[in-house]
Amino acid sequence: MRAIIPVAGVGTRLRPHTYALPKVLLNVAGKPILGHILDAIIAQGIHKATIVTGYMGKLVEDYVKTRYDIEVDFVPQKSSLGLGHAIWVAKETFGDEPLLIILGDTIFDVNLKLMTESNSSTIGVKQVEDPRRFGVVIKNEDGTIKELIEKPEQFISDLAIVGLYFINNPHLLKECLTELIDNNIRTRDEYQLTDALQLMLKKGEKFTTFPVEGWYDCGKPETLLATNRYLLDSFPLVHSDENAVIIPPVYIAPTAVIKSSVIGPYATVADGVVVQDSVIRNSIISDDATVTSSLLEDSIIGNEAIVRGHFDKLNVGNSSEIDY
Ligand code: UTP
Repeated sequence: MRAIIPVAGVGTRLRPHTYALPKVLLNVAGKPILGHILDAIIAQGIHKATIVTGYMGKLVEDYVKTRYDIEVDFVPQKSSLGLGHAIWVAKETFGDEPLLIILGDTIFDVNLKLMTESNSSTIGVKQVEDPRRFGVVIKNEDGTIKELIEKPEQFISDLAIVGLYFINNPHLLKECLTELIDNNIRTRDEYQLTDALQLMLKKGEKFTTFPVEGWYDCGKPETLLATNRYLLDSFPLVHSDENAVIIPPVYIAPTAVIKSSVIGPYATVADGVVVQDSVIRNSIISDDATVTSSLLEDSIIGNEAIVRGHFDKLNVGNSSEIDY
């Protein structure tokens, strides 16, 4: 089994944080998004991966090489032409073994083993209220997939494709992606993975669906904070500090220094952070930031940023300085 993780996108919705770091390296509950994904696949016994890099790809590569001892091929995607294109550029790393495709900005809480034990290709789905923003599937009576459609304008199904795919036939996927690219088949101007999967279906590949309840998007500030809350909920209280009142759940890095402050609930305080005379809840304070005399709620503070003063909600990029 090989995991394919596309992380080439620019992450515009998470600016200013993605001006300084690629989205997958943003901290959530104490480690980068990509760290959560890699830990999950390793825990399921997957030790081979292809990471499709683009925007700030060198930082991604350095992070993985220094932290992980698994076999990873890094493949560059020169322009973000869509998810189908990102998987197509990875095609030379496909072998005969099945593929598990995981979007680089989503954390899943699923039993990957159950998914990958399927005899057929299977696609992670979840019922959503507004399916227009997603690819969706229509099912046959026997539960297999009848059709896959990317971002339908009219309502045809509310079973959204969540970004987790188990592909049993990598050769056919490669063939169908190449057909998209060669014939310039785009939907909303991008080469879509959904369109390649629909081609596979037409050529006889059987697809089933796999229900995914635990699907945590990290693509926007509010969803990153929601994912932080979800992950922290499963953390034990590992930190006590006589200089602080800790209201769990929280993540406080061992190298963080807290003085006369209230931390939590739902605060991530990363390595090297200094917090003094402050209250921090439902927020992520990234590496080496300093927060003094502040009340922060629903905030994301970038690496090495300095915040001094009284605020409620801040979205502050790396190395910024806010003084009140
Ligand atoms: P998104 O479209 O959500 O990510 O793609 P983005 O483009 O980085 O974010 P915004 O929209 O600008 O805020 C989902 C995943 O697919 C990857 C992205 O890196 C992300 O992990 N992707 C998407 C690629 O690798 N290449 C592409 O051409 C498109």
